[in-house]
Amino acid sequence: MHTRLSDAIKPYSMINQKHLDLNSMKELPESHAWLSLDESPSYDSSTPDLVPVINLNDPNAVKLVGHACKTWGVFQVTNHGVPTNLLEEMEAAGRKLFALPIQQKLKAARSPKGVSGYGVARISTFFPKLMWSEGFTVIGSPYEHARKLWPNRCSLFCDVIEQYKQEMNKLAQRLMSLMLGSLGVTMEDVKWAGTQGSSPALQLNSYPACPDPDRAMGLAAHTDSTLLTILHQNNTSGLQAHKEGTGWVTVPPIPGALVVNVGDLLHILSNGLYPSVLHRAMVNRTRHRLSVAYLYGPPSNVQISPLSKLTDHVHPPLYRPVTWSEYLGKKAKHFNKALSTVRVCAPLNGFVDANDHNETFANSPSSVLLNLVLFSPTMPSKGHGLESQYVISLTKLKETWLICR
Ligand code: OGA
Ligand code: NI
Repeated sequence: MHTRLSDAIKPYSMINQKHLDLNSMKELPESHAWLSLDESPSYDSSTPDLVPVINLNDPNAVKLVGHACKTWGVFQVTNHGVPTNLLEEMEAAGRKLFALPIQQKLKAARSPKGVSGYGVARISTFFPKLMWSEGFTVIGSPYEHARKLWPNRCSLFCDVIEQYKQEMNKLAQRLMSLMLGSLGVTMEDVKWAGTQGSSPALQLNSYPACPDPDRAMGLAAHTDSTLLTILHQNNTSGLQAHKEGTGWVTVPPIPGALVVNVGDLLHILSNGLYPSVLHRAMVNRTRHRLSVAYLYGPPSNVQISPLSKLTDHVHPPLYRPVTWSEYLGKKAKHFNKALSTVRVCAPLNGFVDANDHNETFANSPSSVLLNLVLFSPTMPSKGHGLESQYVISLTKLKETWLICR
């Protein structure tokens, strides 16, 4: 059992990280040229489907948050209580960091098996091409790595990081309370919710201007392995969220607003009702983009499972209990298929499609049948060698359903 989040990720960390100075490139190197990028936002611009913007002081905030989580898995918040000058200071600190010469940044490089420090996107291992971005990850104290960047004067940077984490923690708790509230659950119902979570992670991302943005990818499509993520982006757009039936939609920067997205653990907690949203970052030909993601999760060894208030015999739990530590290990190994690995009625022929993560499984016809199988009184317990019969009966049930429809 992992006790620290960093231990959970280490075994799958990157080997052979390749560091190019993207800031000085005049051409897109082959290593960063993606063969086919999905086309940009695919909605019809005459009827734009816009990511909700919620004023947290709105008396209807709980309802609005619930609706946004259910339909999008992402929204922006205003009146969130984080001082604007702190957002600006954080952005300025990030800008200063990424503006350092590459040799200097590499002094604070993530160690081959580490998680904190400077480096390329961690998810790079899952793709044949590199992404047009650089990052700096802070877990716990920023001091160790910051001191390598600025040997004599890193305290300003560290102070901003600490203040930012504190404010984000307050906001994350408030958002959790709204999100749980919208599910009809209070913070008191969830024992760990009011306690100090695990050491959260702060991820600073830099997307330098790119000579060939149509063939480059800033950060490839992924879901976050968190309960929720709070993202500050500078005034350059690039973040896109995927919406079922609509496609990729740009989440435009709104001065002072923060982007909130549902992560995989809230997806599990809500029993699939709130989808962890697939998102990615595109790059720009002329503008440098910067973002700061606050990755919020539960205490690392608390078992996260669908809330009991949301499950009954008609809505059985779709996911087995899993700790954040364990889940991070799965994510590092299976990436976008990690959710399927903890699904109780995971498809029996292996993993499903990478995009299946945000299906509200409970509502699909096949899940009705899967649930039937799960709750069959004759369901053999694992290890009796009878599972194969259930594979067959499941297939038959699916076929029957297709015929009946
Ligand atoms: C992330 C992320 C998006 C962005 O860091 O997990 O999704 O716009 N970032 O930088
Ligand atoms: Ni993300």
